Amino acid sequence: MSSFWSGWIIILTIATIIGLFWLLFGNRTRPNNGEETTGHVYDGIEEYDNPLPSWWLNMFVLSMVFGIGYLIAFPGLGTFQGLLGWTQVNQWQQENEKLDAKFDVLLKQYAATPIEQLAKDEKARRSGQRLFASYCSTCHGADAGGNTGFPNLRDNDWLYGGSPDQIVETITRGRKGAMPAWKGILTDQQLNDVSAWLTSAEKPAAGEQVFASYCAACHGADAKGNQMVGAPNLTDNVWLYGGGLGEVKTSILNGRNGQMPAHENILTPEKIHLLAAYVYGLSQNPQPQ
Ligand code: HEC
Ligand code: HEC
Repeated sequence: MSSFWSGWIIILTIATIIGLFWLLFGNRTRPNNGEETTGHVYDGIEEYDNPLPSWWLNMFVLSMVFGIGYLIAFPGLGTFQGLLGWTQVNQWQQENEKLDAKFDVLLKQYAATPIEQLAKDEKARRSGQRLFASYCSTCHGADAGGNTGFPNLRDNDWLYGGSPDQIVETITRGRKGAMPAWKGILTDQQLNDVSAWLTSAEKPAAGEQVFASYCAACHGADAKGNQMVGAPNLTDNVWLYGGGLGEVKTSILNGRNGQMPAHENILTPEKIHLLAAYVYGLSQNPQPQ
């Protein structure tokens, strides 16, 4: 606010307050020539000219004095900051610090509870859900149901493993999926064969051969995946990037590099512990999507 407008507001406010005092006291007693009424008559009803009831007047004065005191103590008069030094920001900070301190006590208790057990604690689950909403839902969805390229965390199907330790590791250090691109390496025929082998009911033997030579090292001889490298199970109906023939071909041709960011510099170990319990709990009662 420029000092001109600040001054303008201060003058207007003070003038208004003075005006109100004048209005109140200037009109308190009225010379009525000894008459009891104002002389106004409506349908035979006369208007009396009584002074304001004193309780009402006192309340009025009190509220105006309070208003003046308030304007001296708190910001309100233009850019004048008030004598107490109160600001919205420091009130917000103080309240936040109080909340954080409370939450810290809880987090310490939770941190001392094994994840399997913590996952069953309804209050901890709700705290974990709030953390999830702030830090994870942009990628994994508010309900942790995932999206193309972002794994569903509610099912019991894991790229990197669903034990408490594995989940903590995933959140703390992050994960990088490394599916190489096969463009230029596989012939069109090989690509078609292996894609058909993965997606269609009849399994061409040529496709199985391609798979054994090029893919089994990561996805396993039975194509059921390998959690050490985050290679997904390709035999179930759960697809990170889509299970249609076109989508599978795209995955194979261009490769895929999903990245779960590390959170060790964003979240304390206590918060990661609580989040891991929340995620672990979701997979313990898989819910239909
Ligand atoms: C920027 C997006 C992003 C954010 C934010 C994010 N994730 Fe992830 N997360 C991913 C991706 C992508 C993957 C899969 C990585 C891959 O394809 O190899 C993943 C994988 C995971 C996995 C492994 C799933 C499995 O099947 O093994 C877990 C568990 C997980 N995330 C939990 C979390 C939690 C908890 C948070 C919040 C602290 C979080 N993620 C925040 C993108 C994200
Ligand atoms: C070096 C290890 C490695 C090799 C070799 C490899 N993959 Fe993968 N593959 C992965 C990883 C890791 C992912 C997960 C990528 C991610 O999380 O973003 C993946 C993902 C995929 C997907 C996507 C799965 C989904 O759920 O959407 C398909 C399809 C796939 N691979 C097929 C193949 C085929 C076919 C071959 C052989 C031609 C092959 N892969 C060879 C590591 C490998």
